[in-house]
Amino acid sequence: MTIPESIQENYHYWHNFLETEVHFSLADSEKHTKDHCARVLLFALLIADKMALPHDRQTVLCAAAVFHDSRRKDDWLDVGHGQRAADYYLEYCRKHLISFDERTYQVMAFHDRDDALGEAALAKEEDGVLLYRIFKDADALDRFRLGPGKLNVRYLRTDAAKSLYEYAKHIWYGGFAKR
Ligand SMILES: [Fe+2]
Ligand SMILES: [Fe+2]
Repeated sequence: MTIPESIQENYHYWHNFLETEVHFSLADSEKHTKDHCARVLLFALLIADKMALPHDRQTVLCAAAVFHDSRRKDDWLDVGHGQRAADYYLEYCRKHLISFDERTYQVMAFHDRDDALGEAALAKEEDGVLLYRIFKDADALDRFRLGPGKLNVRYLRTDAAKSLYEYAKHIWYGGFAKR
């Protein structure tokens, strides 16, 4: 599977960042691996590309994709892993003097919560609700890994993500970055 040219540069930059910079607390996770995060990154970039989002919005999604499941304690619901991942991202930004984006922090902190809560938290940020919806859709598009029937297209929030349903299915069953 080749990465579409329009997103290649961003995808490779953040995939390398994921592999070299982000450390996962649940190292033997079966469902929330770095490969899962790489596929969320891929789907987020594809949705962003379809919506022609500006670069700073794409960066919000990419950073959220690589950190979002890095602070899990188990592979189940583990509500609170979003907040812990957000705090890890904040700490990383401080330590490495890289720019911090409040939207990345909030998207991650609320990605394991109900949409209503997340949307309320993101409402005051520029394009915050849109970015939250895109991120949750990108995460959901990788639900094929959880087994047949685990992704219902009707629950996807954005038309761009709905249009990627078959692609995401192919990515999983076609064996992209699976291990
Ligand atoms: Fe998560
Ligand atoms: Fe995830």
